[in-house]
Parts: sequence; structure tokens; C-alpha cells
Amino acid sequence: MKHDLQVKILKELMDQLDTGRNVDAGVQYRNPTNSYVCEDLARRERDEFFQHHPQLIGLSGDLPEPGTWFTVEDFGTPILATRDKEGQFHAFLNACRHRGAKLTRETRGKGSRFVCPFHSWTYSASGDLMGVPQQDHFGPVDKQCSSLIALPAAEHLGMLWVHPQPDGELDIAALLGPLDEEFSTHNFADYVYVGENLIEMNLNWKLANDTFGETYHFQKLHRNTLGQLFYGDNLAYEEIGRHHRFVFAGKGIDLLREMPEEEWKLTDGANLLYYLFPNIQFNMGTGAIFMIKIYPHPSDPGKSITRVGNYFTPETFELARAAESDASVKTVNRENVYDADLAQDSVNSDVALSLEAITEIFASTISDEDYLMGEHQQIAAHNGLLDHVIFGRNEPALHHYHNTFRAALGMPPLEKIQA
Ligand code: FES
Ligand SMILES: [Fe+2]
Repeated sequence: MKHDLQVKILKELMDQLDTGRNVDAGVQYRNPTNSYVCEDLARRERDEFFQHHPQLIGLSGDLPEPGTWFTVEDFGTPILATRDKEGQFHAFLNACRHRGAKLTRETRGKGSRFVCPFHSWTYSASGDLMGVPQQDHFGPVDKQCSSLIALPAAEHLGMLWVHPQPDGELDIAALLGPLDEEFSTHNFADYVYVGENLIEMNLNWKLANDTFGETYHFQKLHRNTLGQLFYGDNLAYEEIGRHHRFVFAGKGIDLLREMPEEEWKLTDGANLLYYLFPNIQFNMGTGAIFMIKIYPHPSDPGKSITRVGNYFTPETFELARAAESDASVKTVNRENVYDADLAQDSVNSDVALSLEAITEIFASTISDEDYLMGEHQQIAAHNGLLDHVIFGRNEPALHHYHNTFRAALGMPPLEKIQA
């Protein structure tokens, strides 16, 4: 991100903190709770947003070298994502051309061949059918026409995108719009994949998404956890087409006030979160990215799956490795992850981030705090007596998500509450 934009955002946050203001959309809306339980709506969302829309499935670091691969099972089309020996990214339907068995049930691995577990038809990482056992028994097979079914796949600015339909359009620069240029400054291609956290809970996928849509709850729900590291009730917010940029102040912003502006770095003083329509929350930390992918359950609107992909810069990765063998390296771990002093320290000195600290934040804080609220909201929505909920003036991301989902499905916008 350009430095002058980083400074502008940080100044806006400082001003909000100094004057006790939060972002103000100037309008409140009613959101019908039916949108979290309606089976017909859930079916349309799965079809429009997850079967007929490009899907961000990872970063280049998910396929770190030729011959690496991973699978995706989250949006109805089973995907086998590969990097072939020339380094080219491919996405295939994970289904053998003989009788449709999955070529692998593992989630990721390395190897240049895929041998179907059923009858051992063999494919290359670029999808070509290489071998059919006992072909004299089986009969002729036109190998040219029996490659794996390829899906549109694009590696763009270090992101791996797939379209679930073989004839789907994949113009990622157009999809990102003005974010395309901003993303080009983040060097996503350099990040190292370090693991994933999975959360499966009883809340609609939009309720899971909603928890990333305001800072009003930070000093209440997260008082003893994330609230130790971040100020709540502040937000530099910008809608960018169907997407948005959502930045809120970390306690490190106080240190920046004493530093010259030329040295300010946004992620030292704030948390930078991008939302990509329809289901991605892209959290840029210092030296780390957390790609939060939220998916509806395939049949139950009351359930969802969240995958948090964790990626480190090579420097953060090396520091984490060094910390494993060198006890003198300060490390953020499960016990001290909410220690505000250590977080401030890390702005100016090398502090290793551990995977267990990330797991604590996502698998524990998000599930035990945010998503727990979401499960309660889901129960209320199912009950039906609470026919709508209210989005405040300080919750513009909620306005934007829901109005964007509705517009995409040809529904009228949310009802404004007249002051
Ligand atoms: S289904 Fe794959 S080899 Fe038969
Ligand atoms: Fe939260």
C-alpha cells in the first residue's frame, strides 16, 4: 500500500481515538433474521456465490514448488490444485475420468503423478492421462480426450483463483477493481504457507462473516483477549466495489505518534483487514497473513465452515524457526499472545510469532468468543420471534455486506431505519 495512504489512515485512526469518535455511516438498517435460516436463500447463495463465482483458494505459497498440490472440498466442486513441472498452476475436478473416484483424499502433498486409488489410472500434474493398467482387458481409451477436467485457474499477484465452472470467466484484475493495484504492493507471492485452522460451528456463513464487520464489540466481548492488543470503537473504512478495506488501531499506534511519519508502517499501528466478496477476510498482520475463508454448509443454513490459512513472510518464518532452537529469541506463544507490552515490543524488535499463538487467536478467540455469539444469534434466528436485527451507524461493513449480497441476488436493499 502506498505510504501516503498508510499515513492518511493512521492519522484518521489517531483522530478518532483523540476525539472519541468511531466511523459513522450516518444510517441504521434492519436486517431480517430470516436471511440466516431461509433454505431457499441458502440454496441461491451456494449456487450464485460459490458455484458461479471465482473462488480464492490460497496463495502461491500453497504450491511452493513444481509437483506440489492440494485439494479443496469447500464449495461443492472437489478441486485438485497442482503446480506442474514448468511451475504452472492448474485446477482440476478431483474426479478420475474412468468412473469418477477422487484421485486423492489427502489435503496436500508432493509428487508428479496421481494414481487413482480405484483402478490405478495415472495422471500427470498437468492433468494428462498417462497410464491405464491392463489396457488389453479394458479396451481402447482415447488418452487425448481423457485428461482431467480442467477448471479456469489463475495465479494473480500471488493469489490462487479458481472458477468452479469449466466455462467460467476468471478476470481477477477486473474482479478486484481498484484493489488490484493496492494488492500488487503486498507481495503475496513471497509468503510461506505454515498451516491452517478449521472452525466448524452452528452459525450461518453470513453470521460468521458479520463477526469481522465492526469494532464496536472489541472492548466488550474481547476485553480480556484481543481487546488487550487493539483499541475498539475506531475504524478507517472504505468500500471498494463489492469488497472493502477495514483498518482499526492497535495499541502500537501510540508508539508511532512519537516517530517521524516517514517511518510509519500501517501494520505496526493497526490491523489491516480486506474483505473480498463473497467470503474472504484477508488479515494482514506484521509479517503474517491470515486468509479467512468462510463457507456455507452444503445443506444446512445453520452451519458453516471457516478455514484460516496462515502465511508468514520468509523473515517471520525464519525467525519462528530460529526461536525453536534458540531460547533467547522472544516468542509470541499461546500464553503471552494477549500481552500488550510484548506486542509493543514487537514493533521495534524481533519477536517470533508462533503457530500456537495464531491458533489461540483463531481457533480459540474467534470460535469461543465471536462465533459463540454467532451460534446464539443463529438460535434466535431459527426461533423466529426476533424477526430482524439492527445494524448501527458504527457498523458500515455490515450494511455493505448485506446490501451487496442482496443486490447480487436481485433482492431490494435493507430497510433504512428513519431517525
Ligand atoms: S475410477 Fe479411477 S481408475 Fe477407476
Ligand atoms: Fe471479534
